[in-house]
Amino acid sequence: IWVVDNIEDKSQFYPQISQAAELLRANEIVAFPTETVYGLGANATDTAAVEKIFMAKGRPSDNPLIVHIAQLQQLEEIATDIPAFAYKLMERFWPGPLTLVLKTKGKISEKVTAGLPTVAVRMPNHPVALALIQECRLPIAAPSANLSGRPSPTTAKHVYDDLNGRIAGIVDGGETGVGVESTVLDCTEEIPVILRPGGVTKEEIEQVIGKVRIDAALEDKTATPKSPGMKYTHYAPKSPVIIIEGSRTFLQHLVDEQRKNGMKVGILTTEENKDFYQADVVLPCGRREDLHTVAAHLYQVLRHFDETDVELIYSESFPVEGIGSAIMNRLKKAAGYQVIREK
Ligand code: TXA
Ligand code: MG
Repeated sequence: IWVVDNIEDKSQFYPQISQAAELLRANEIVAFPTETVYGLGANATDTAAVEKIFMAKGRPSDNPLIVHIAQLQQLEEIATDIPAFAYKLMERFWPGPLTLVLKTKGKISEKVTAGLPTVAVRMPNHPVALALIQECRLPIAAPSANLSGRPSPTTAKHVYDDLNGRIAGIVDGGETGVGVESTVLDCTEEIPVILRPGGVTKEEIEQVIGKVRIDAALEDKTATPKSPGMKYTHYAPKSPVIIIEGSRTFLQHLVDEQRKNGMKVGILTTEENKDFYQADVVLPCGRREDLHTVAAHLYQVLRHFDETDVELIYSESFPVEGIGSAIMNRLKKAAGYQVIREK
């Protein structure tokens, strides 16, 4: 683990970065901070290096990875037929939490793209990530640096807890800021499609390029996700999570019922509501009045429940607008789409 104390001072973190970059050039895998979550990086042009990522995470090989770049020049070596609206989005949101799915140019390992004709690319807005990519002069394939199925890591300790012994190193740049992953936007359609809501909101994208669509599988609010083979739980703590749509009194009532049956119950709530509840564990996740603070703490709180002995977690729900779309998308996956609505 290389600890970077001041992420704004390049001279201070240069020695750590150059060691990590050397490992990446030697086709080893290294975790590093981005503005969203920690990524687990590998040389995107080398199949053996990329295979190490899938091994370390236990990730199914049909799930493609995002390629991280530090300069626009790198994009043209990776992608082709890039539409004008995509350049507009890069200008506005890069570096930043927006991933663009574009037609691949073939320089990237097929392991990265899972054999698809497209490649997902983003330029992260984090000084350590940018310095690392620049220093190794390679496009870096990087999924979130967690074991597959676990909540994504927002601190170096989360990475260590999941992947210690499985990877060559971790660059520790402190807590990430955004807290949920980048927005994935398919730019190969005439009207671009959001495949995963994330750090850049639909509203922000539409301000720049007009109407975008949302992948139908994401809008499905019923119990079953549409795409077959899609794993139902992701981002999940070890105990089951159930989302409650209703009043605080309703949620408390459900908790009381379970505790009467001898269950140990946790509640995921917010600073505003935390004193209202009684349960075995009550964890506030940011402030409801500023959903960015909820996003920033979500994975940390989900992981925190694993350090308690709760057997069931009830979560408040959040408005599906702005960054709230990403929050609810991750919560629903963590809950395996289990939602209880107050009548
Ligand atoms: O914020 C983030 O995006 C973080 C940091 C590390 O940059 N990375 C991340 O990677 O979340 P990962 O692998 O956990 O998620 C990548 C997502 C997956 O949902 C994957 O299916 C999708 O991007 N994806 C990658 N390539 C794709 C492609 N060619 N077409 C469609 N979806 C793609
Ligand atoms: Mg992930």
